Amino acid sequence: LAAASLSAAAQDYPAKPVTIIVPFTAGGPTDKVARDLAEALRKPLGQTVIVDNAAGAGGSIGANKVAKAQPDGYTLLVHHIGMATMPTLVRNIPFKVESDFEYLGLINDVPMTIIGKPGLPANNFKELTAWIQANKGKINLGNAGVGSASHLCGMLFQHAMGVDMTAVPYKGTAPAMTDLMGGQIDLMCDQTTNTTSAIEGKKVKVFAVSTPKRLAIPALKDVPTMQELGMKDFNVSIFHGLYAPKGTPPAVLKKLNDALKVALKDPDFVKREEGLGAVVVNDNRTSPAEHKKFVQSEINKWSPLIKAAGVYVE
Ligand code: MLT
Repeated sequence: LAAASLSAAAQDYPAKPVTIIVPFTAGGPTDKVARDLAEALRKPLGQTVIVDNAAGAGGSIGANKVAKAQPDGYTLLVHHIGMATMPTLVRNIPFKVESDFEYLGLINDVPMTIIGKPGLPANNFKELTAWIQANKGKINLGNAGVGSASHLCGMLFQHAMGVDMTAVPYKGTAPAMTDLMGGQIDLMCDQTTNTTSAIEGKKVKVFAVSTPKRLAIPALKDVPTMQELGMKDFNVSIFHGLYAPKGTPPAVLKKLNDALKVALKDPDFVKREEGLGAVVVNDNRTSPAEHKKFVQSEINKWSPLIKAAGVYVE
C-alpha cells in the first residue's frame, strides 16, 4: 500500500516545497552550492526548494537523516566527497553509501586551498614549512569534523608535511573560517567556494592549491599547487552530488534528474560557481548511473590512499 500511494503521489510531484538537507553549517561550501542549486531548481521544478542544515559528525548526521527519510522526493541531500571517503575515514557510519540512496547526478568539482590565520608569520609556502617545523606540537588545524572534506585534506596535508597537528573540529568550515580569521586556529584546508572571498579580503593567508593545475580566478591565479611545491601525489578535488532516499519512485527521480540538468545550465548558477573556482559538471556526468559510477570510483581511489597514509580514525 505504501509503495502504491508513493507511486500515485509521484504523478503530481512536486506538489509541495522540496527540502534539500545540507549536512554542514550554513554559510560553508556545501551550504553555498546547495542554496545556489535550490534557487536554480525552483524554475524547472515549479516549486519552492528549501535548504535545511543538519550539521554534525563530519556530515554523517545529515546524510543519515536523508537515508532514513520518506522516499517521496521531498527530502533530498547535497553531499560532497565525504560520500566516498567517509566509509574509509570513519568506522561505523550509520548508513550505507552504496545502498541507502538514489543517485540523482553530480553537481560540481571544487579545488581546495591551504589557508592560514592572518597573523601567521609566513607569506609563502617555504616560510610556512619553516614555521610548521619550528612549531611542531603547537599547531591547530580546523576542520568540519571527522569524515569531512577539510578533515581529509588536512590529514593528507599533515602527512605531506610529516608533522602532526591538533585537529579542531567544527560542524562546518563556515564557523572554522570565522575562528581562523580571528586567529583562534592556525591553519585549514577548505574549498575555494568558501575561501575565495576571505582570501580576496586579505582576512586569511593562502599558501597552496590542492589540485594539479593553477586556478584562473584572480584571487588564486598566482597561488602554487601542492604538486608544484614538490608534493607530487597531492591531488584533492571535491565533488558534490544530489541524492534521494533509496526507494524514491522512478517517476520522481526522473523529474528531479531532468530539473537538475536544467539547473546546472542556469547562467547565474554557473557564474557563481565559476567565480569561486568551482567547475559545474557537464551533461554526461549528471546522470544517476554516472554519479553512482563516479562515487564508486572515488571509493576505490581513496580507500587505499587513506589506508596507506594511515589517516583514518578508528
Ligand atoms: C562545509 O560545508 O562546511 C564543508 O564542506 C565541510 C567540509 O570541509 O567537508
